[in-house]
Amino acid sequence: MLVLAMLTIIGAIALACTPSHNQSTFDTLGPVAENQAFIFIVIFWVGAFVFVAVEGALIYAVFKFKRRPGDGDPVQVHGNTRLEIAWTIAPIIILIIAAVPTVQGIFYAAEAPIPPSEGGLEVDAIGHQWWFEFRYPHPDNPGEQIVFANELHIPVGEPVTFNLGSVDVIHSLWVPKLAGKVDMIPNNDNSLWLQADEPGVFFGQCAEFCGVSHANMKFKVVAESRSEFDAWLQSQSQSAFEPAEPLAVQGKELFKSAGCTGCHATKSIMKLSKDGKKLPGRIGPNLTHMASRINLVAMLDNTEIGNAEPNDYMLQRNLKDWISNPEEIKPGNIMSAQAAVYTDPSKALEEHEIDALVAYLLTLK
Ligand code: CUA
Repeated sequence: MLVLAMLTIIGAIALACTPSHNQSTFDTLGPVAENQAFIFIVIFWVGAFVFVAVEGALIYAVFKFKRRPGDGDPVQVHGNTRLEIAWTIAPIIILIIAAVPTVQGIFYAAEAPIPPSEGGLEVDAIGHQWWFEFRYPHPDNPGEQIVFANELHIPVGEPVTFNLGSVDVIHSLWVPKLAGKVDMIPNNDNSLWLQADEPGVFFGQCAEFCGVSHANMKFKVVAESRSEFDAWLQSQSQSAFEPAEPLAVQGKELFKSAGCTGCHATKSIMKLSKDGKKLPGRIGPNLTHMASRINLVAMLDNTEIGNAEPNDYMLQRNLKDWISNPEEIKPGNIMSAQAAVYTDPSKALEEHEIDALVAYLLTLK
């Protein structure tokens, strides 16, 4: 029984550390994550050394100096200068071993090798209950930002600086294989930088408990070549596609009349304030190019396994499930709590209306 329990625990620990997992911090694919993993390893081995040394000495003393029959009182001693100096110096040495890489790591993570002031890419990341908003500077127009949600594209091999913010509670930005975690605090300017060393799709997750759907607050990072990234940013800055198909046209009308536009923008460009500050956005995620994303509502995957491109069939199914019953998919979300189509039974969406909305949203590539 005990052996079985031990094997289960060892198995669980080994699985938790498997580098192939999407949220493993051991399979580092960028310099910041690599540095953080190195600090972890140093502190782990320092801790392991202290544990073995202290517990070993304890067990040795317990057996060696055990009271035996016939023993009288032990020798009474007080004070041992050599010992006291030793146990003062040993922790100092141990702390220095742990502190040097830690302090170096703090400085390394503090500022990107190419900071935004020297032309490095800068992204505003804003936490919402429960999704991520990202805003990029418009490449051709300094007074504007390109806004989107739950999906982040970055050029491979370039450091990207994130200005972290939140509109409600404290969230935390974490991309286990690239960098993290730094809190996104309302009215506080935290920042973080990261870099992907190879192309791929990486998992991101909110790492600070932020309410009932905290676990559903995810995003994806797509690292691609500079030219692919530029083309993507260009496509995201375009106006939304105008549907022609009758069902989609009907869906677009419904999108306005049912009140969706109150919270969701279908324009991806936002102006900055006169002094260059970002302005508050809409309550809900920007939907201008939502059908081009591989995630829906920060948690539903629109891709087939092994494929990084969104799949229309999966997207259609996810959209239908989501619009039909958002509360079941993402408990506590603002849309199901506040949108009239969910709170007022007389305004509830009918099946054919949901189909029209889905048909329209599917055109927003
Ligand atoms: Cu946002 Cu947890």
